[in-house]
Amino acid sequence: MSQNATPVLTIDGPSGVGKGIIARIVAQKQNWNLLDSGAIYRAFALVVDTRKVEIYDEEALKEVAQTLDLEFKTKAGDELVSVYLDGKDVSKILRTEKTGEMASKIASIGVVRSALLKRQKDFAKMPGLVADGRDMGTTVFPDAPFKVYLTASADERANRRLKQLQTQGSKGIILQILAKVKARDERDSSRKHSPLKPAKDALIIDTTELSIDEVVTQVIALIEA
Ligand code: C5P
Repeated sequence: MSQNATPVLTIDGPSGVGKGIIARIVAQKQNWNLLDSGAIYRAFALVVDTRKVEIYDEEALKEVAQTLDLEFKTKAGDELVSVYLDGKDVSKILRTEKTGEMASKIASIGVVRSALLKRQKDFAKMPGLVADGRDMGTTVFPDAPFKVYLTASADERANRRLKQLQTQGSKGIILQILAKVKARDERDSSRKHSPLKPAKDALIIDTTELSIDEVVTQVIALIEA
C-alpha cells in the first residue's frame, strides 16, 4: 500500500465528468479524507493572477506554491467542500469558468506541478484518502491500491455543466460550453507534464449513461473487492 500504508483511492478524468461529487460521496461513505487537487491548482492560479506574477518567473511561482495558505472545510449538508485562501472563503470564485481556465493554463507548467506535489501527497492520512484530479493515479499517488478513471462524452459533460449552471441560477449556451470543455480536454491531455490519461492499472468507468449512484456503487465495489 502507498503513503505510510494509508489506503488511497484516486479518481481521475476530464473536466465535468463528475469526479468531485463522486469523490465527495465515496469519502463520506468510507469516512476517508478528501483531496480536490483541482482546487489547489485553481487557488494557485488565483494568487498568481492577483499578485500579477509572470508565468515565466519560476522563482516567483515556487514562492507562491510555498506560501499558498489554503484550507479545506467540509460543512455538514453542503454538497461541496469550502475552500479558504488566506483565511477568506474563495469557494465561489474558485469554481468559476474563468478560474478553471487560468488553472488549466498554469497547470501545464512543470515547475508549478512539482512545487505542488508534496502538498498533495500530504493529504494521505489515515484512515484513507480519496484524491480527485488529472494525475492522481499516474503521478501523485502511483502506488495507490485503488484507481478509477472516469470518462463521459464531451456532449454529456457539457450538458451536465449547463444543468449545474442552471441550478446555480446562471445561464449558459450549450455550444459555447461544449467548445470550452473540448479546449480544456485538449490542453490537459496534450501537455508535456503529467498529461491527463488513465493510469495503466485504473478501472475505467464510462459514466455517460450512468447515474451518480451507479458510479458510486462501482467505485465502492472496487474498494471492497
Ligand atoms: O478539476 P478542476 O476542473 O477543478 O481543475 C482545474 C484545472 O486544474 C484542470 O483543467 C487541470 O488543468 C488542472 N488540474 C491538473 N491536475 C490536477 C487537477 C487539476 O492539472 N490534478
